[in-house]
Amino acid sequence: MAQWTSAVGAPQLARLLRSQDPRAAELTANGRKLPAYRGLADGVRLLVLEGRVPVAARLPAERELAAAVGVSRTTVAAAYEALRAEGFLESRRGSGSWTAVPAGNPLPTRGLEPLPPEAAGSMIDLGCAALPAPEPWLTRAVQGAMADLPLYAHTHGDYPAGLPVLRQALADRYTARGIPTMPEQIMVTTGAMGAVAAICRLCTSPGERVAVDSPSYANILQLMRDAGARLVPVGLGERLAGWDIPVWRQVMRDAAPRMAYVVADFHNPTGTLATEDQRRRLVDAARSAGTLLVVDETMTEIVLDADTELPRPVCAFDPAGSAVITVGSASKAFWAGMRIGWVRAAPDIIRSLVAARAYSDLGSPVLEQLAIASLLESGGWEEAVGIRREQARENRDAIVEALQRHLPDWEFSVPRGGLTLWVRTGGLSGSRIAEAGERLGVRVPSGPRFGVDGAFEGFVRLPFTVSGAVADEAVVRLAHAAQLVATGVAPAEAGAPHAFVA
Ligand SMILES: Cc1ncc(COP(=O)(O)O)c(C=O)c1O
Repeated sequence: MAQWTSAVGAPQLARLLRSQDPRAAELTANGRKLPAYRGLADGVRLLVLEGRVPVAARLPAERELAAAVGVSRTTVAAAYEALRAEGFLESRRGSGSWTAVPAGNPLPTRGLEPLPPEAAGSMIDLGCAALPAPEPWLTRAVQGAMADLPLYAHTHGDYPAGLPVLRQALADRYTARGIPTMPEQIMVTTGAMGAVAAICRLCTSPGERVAVDSPSYANILQLMRDAGARLVPVGLGERLAGWDIPVWRQVMRDAAPRMAYVVADFHNPTGTLATEDQRRRLVDAARSAGTLLVVDETMTEIVLDADTELPRPVCAFDPAGSAVITVGSASKAFWAGMRIGWVRAAPDIIRSLVAARAYSDLGSPVLEQLAIASLLESGGWEEAVGIRREQARENRDAIVEALQRHLPDWEFSVPRGGLTLWVRTGGLSGSRIAEAGERLGVRVPSGPRFGVDGAFEGFVRLPFTVSGAVADEAVVRLAHAAQLVATGVAPAEAGAPHAFVA
């Protein structure tokens, strides 16, 4: 059986090759003129490493690509041969050729591990896209929870679907957003991570295909890998303009994934906001293919530019509730330390998720659920979210300004929401910059953590978690790291980070 899970046509591949940054080819060529086959092979290799052509995508036949690119068939054959020798292509007679990444790829593709705050010292930790608790709302929420606790203290405390009061409050929020929702459609979970883990356990078996945005949130990718999923990456559209629906349709048809995991609002890491039309068409494609669409709304409330109008939620296009499962979280809108998330789905799916919970974490803590319920009921939630947005906006603007000042070569689109900036590192390796940065006192995750199989080597992700002088110093350190990588000087030779106080 062929190992490919999607296909890229000759006109599409030719267009992608033409759209490449000429500096990338110069970097590969090191100033020399490349033979045509080498230029073509390097172009395909970079498209795979940047995730613009997914891994396990069938490439066009040699003759078709030759015609589309305007080179001889011999040139394409030589390019394919070079890619095969380097581990970027696999072929089988009768099945064609499909993209791959070399075995033993040393690039880090695991999730993100936050540095314990007490271990940070002089390090500026940009590893984690989460802000400190908004006070005094955290204290008030916990006080509200303490006042309500006696009502629950005499019960067994075991609420696998979540506290009724919180299920109701969350259902009411969807209803207020124009999506009529009953409490029976909500399950409270331990963060969005707990929600996606529960959905994966219920809806997929090891070895099954799960389609994911490419790039996507590192820890969910790792969670799915650990659950045995075969990830099928689907590139975000050109210039991160949202989902590329024809590509999604093709992947759903060719790879028949059991499930797809997407982030429609202020996607992590790119900040992309899917349009209403893309939402409607993706639901339509998923329904036709029988693919369950899991939509993560963790970032939805982090709207940074006031004039941004959010399209309707993806589940608005699935009134029967059979194609879309929505995941939410209090982590970004309020505080990650609460570890409260939720699932919105059809009541029968919620019942199955709740039944399965007896074999995982049993339930989420009562006190934290009461705190979130009290925030939602008192209106404190909206006030806290308002503070969040202000902080994140200020941090975003500071990091963007610092990049423009110290690293004018690095490219990015400024997102209108969310907590992350996806930055192309001027043709340098994001992994090497992350390595050098760590020794220079700035910690950033490199692009491949957000990709499948080593894609996105030329990127890093920067979160909106620092402002002012700290944001500036973080980027100064990154600029230093980039300089070391560009000149090939080992970071150890560059001296220890100086203490930073701000
Ligand atoms: C898209 C997305 N999903 C899930 C999470 C994790 O959420 P939680 O803290 O609720 O588990 C994050 C955190 O960054 C995220 O960005």
